[in-house]
Amino acid sequence: MKLTLMGFVGIFFIACQQNPSLNSASRDIEINQKVEELLSKMTLEEKVGQMNQYSGFMDFTGPEPDKGQAASKLEHIKKGWVGSMLNVHGVENVKAVQKMAVEESRLGIPLIFGFDVIHGYKTISPIPLAESASWDLKAIKRSAEIAAEEASSAGINWTFAPMVDISRDARWGRVMEGAGEDPFLGSKIAKARVEGFQGNDLSSPHTIAATAKHFAAYGFGDAGREYNTVDIGTTTLYNTVLPPFKAAVDADVKTFMNAFNVLNGIPATGDEFILRDILKSHWNFNGFVVSDWDSVGEMVNHGYAFDGRDAAKKAVKAGTDMDMESYHFIEELVSLVDNGEVEEKSIDDAVSRILRVKFELGLFDDPYQYLSSDREKQTVYNSKFKEDVLGLAKKSIVLLKNDNQLLPLSKENQSILIVGELANDKTSPLGSWRIAAEEETAISLVEGMKTYNSNNKIKYVQGPKLVNGDPKFIKQLKINTTDRAGFTEVIQSAKDADVVIMNLGEHGLQSGEGRSRAEIGLPGLQQELLEAVYIVNPNIVLVLQNGRPLTLNWADKHIPAIVEAWQLGTYSGLAIAEVLFGDYNPSGKLTMSFPRSLGQLPLYYNELPTGRPNNPKQEDVFRSHYIDEENSPLYAFGHGLSYTHFEYSNLKLSQTASKSIQVSIDIKNTGKYLGTETVQVYVRDKVAQISRPVKELKAFEQIELKPNQQKTIDIQLTEKELGYYLPNGDWIFENGEFEIFVGTSSSETLSEKISI
Ligand code: NOJ
Repeated sequence: MKLTLMGFVGIFFIACQQNPSLNSASRDIEINQKVEELLSKMTLEEKVGQMNQYSGFMDFTGPEPDKGQAASKLEHIKKGWVGSMLNVHGVENVKAVQKMAVEESRLGIPLIFGFDVIHGYKTISPIPLAESASWDLKAIKRSAEIAAEEASSAGINWTFAPMVDISRDARWGRVMEGAGEDPFLGSKIAKARVEGFQGNDLSSPHTIAATAKHFAAYGFGDAGREYNTVDIGTTTLYNTVLPPFKAAVDADVKTFMNAFNVLNGIPATGDEFILRDILKSHWNFNGFVVSDWDSVGEMVNHGYAFDGRDAAKKAVKAGTDMDMESYHFIEELVSLVDNGEVEEKSIDDAVSRILRVKFELGLFDDPYQYLSSDREKQTVYNSKFKEDVLGLAKKSIVLLKNDNQLLPLSKENQSILIVGELANDKTSPLGSWRIAAEEETAISLVEGMKTYNSNNKIKYVQGPKLVNGDPKFIKQLKINTTDRAGFTEVIQSAKDADVVIMNLGEHGLQSGEGRSRAEIGLPGLQQELLEAVYIVNPNIVLVLQNGRPLTLNWADKHIPAIVEAWQLGTYSGLAIAEVLFGDYNPSGKLTMSFPRSLGQLPLYYNELPTGRPNNPKQEDVFRSHYIDEENSPLYAFGHGLSYTHFEYSNLKLSQTASKSIQVSIDIKNTGKYLGTETVQVYVRDKVAQISRPVKELKAFEQIELKPNQQKTIDIQLTEKELGYYLPNGDWIFENGEFEIFVGTSSSETLSEKISI
């Protein structure tokens, strides 16, 4: 049976290669035929097996499974009861497991190997939130391509990325994994990342299937608390949450992943409305949906299912096709079908979707095509990736503040003191999703500074510890809040320095899954240290390393230069040093608003107008404001400085057709450095059937300008940018008055109105 199948499939693929006229549509038809044929040979147990995904024993990226269940995994593979493994990587490991499926199971159906290749496999790019700050779609796509190239060489054929969840609450630890708060930019980035991972030819062993996750609204958990309830209206769902998912479908993403949360009362894993009605019917998605880790079983905790059996039934009915690590599909689905509680056609649909992706990946053609040890050795950590990964790290850095042009630093005749445990940390810059990367493989800030320095005296003093004990991926971190050893040495050294670089922020494991924070200031003793150093030497460059927006009010008032350097990956220290010394002129722009105070969260620039807008000049209290804080963010969405200056002028609008507006603006580099500017175009629909945001990003363009150079940018806004979704999901464009804003950030713009 197995040989017949492989033989048939082999002949089919040879035919495809020999006949270039077999275009993608006819390939789809062929694949569908193959899927049907294979399906007709499968027992119900084997079908359900395809819907079952287990984690390997290398890494646990969720709660550890019950030992008894875990022991049976390999046996299940041989029985054909497993369709996919996650957390098995490296050619030798993958090969051993794939062989069991292909050579020992009755039908020899290859497994698909999934892994969280979030921002790199072993060569690590900036965390996705940082990457998004580059606004450079080509560079972001390239980063996903590199991740796919490296991971596929290690046997991986499916990544659980991109996370396209829009997030407005910096308390949530996973804001680091997304593209920030804006659905327009988020959609562009979703597309770039899907295209980067999947390439033009999914059957190539150099590309991998992508996952749009977490469907849906996982970024809207109440109070920024991980896995918490989400309750949002459909206006927000359609206009803010769904667009990046839709963009992923349009980019032909092969899989979706459920979200852990309850969405408006229903766990997303069992939500027929989003999975069947929107995703599979309305959007016509023909890939498959994988649950999140035990999210099927968690429907019992949500009070939505009586037990695992009920949960399996509800998940399949809703449209979840593959079960990650809950065991309920494999334990319950066969008897649910036998009892008539689940229709076999739902199982057939799920299995067809899964098999189709396996065919598209070329796994039936050659299940070992991703498994060349030589290729793995040549590819993993290959320095050929350096230029692009380092390039993106530089583009991701955001210059938040630079009073009196303290930056860039001179390379000569200065004494520079570098302070902070993070500056010498070669692991934290890899972020929390570094599961395949070896510890200590990032270039630290101290190393980077020494590489780019010419003739300065550079001294490093660690200061107080940030973390007590040995941090471990799945354990809680213990932040040092009491041990002040190290303060004195820092303060003494700061007195003698011309400039102090304080590298402060979050440990690499303080953001990411399960790492919500109730306070988002500088953790531990760092704020105290910063203030103590400031007293003896205010000439400070604060270099931040973190996975989320932080509250930085004090620093913003006192510290002359602040650089947001996130967790920039393998080449972190080099990227930061190039920026600090001016070899690279920073161009990053924030994609999440930085609050002044925690109490402002959730905070986002594209809010709706209120009935009583804030007017600080007004004396009375009856307006939408805080009595103890401003409404505005400390650093707005889109904010990011350069060493040069860009002047905007001559904003002109004209109507080009009944539903489109032509925007034109002049931008001039009036400073001394060559620089890249991201020109941002925002729209406000003044009066509509529903209240529309005060500003929404609808276009942007990056331009490089030499000193004194000026360019005119022309941008066309069409119905696509000017319309919106009604609460029932219908798309609408309405003629009327629009205000168009163009500028360097969401808060610094020129604006004009036009009626069309
Ligand atoms: C749980 C996370 O929510 C998800 O994003 C990830 O892909 C899975 N674990 C697998 O590691």
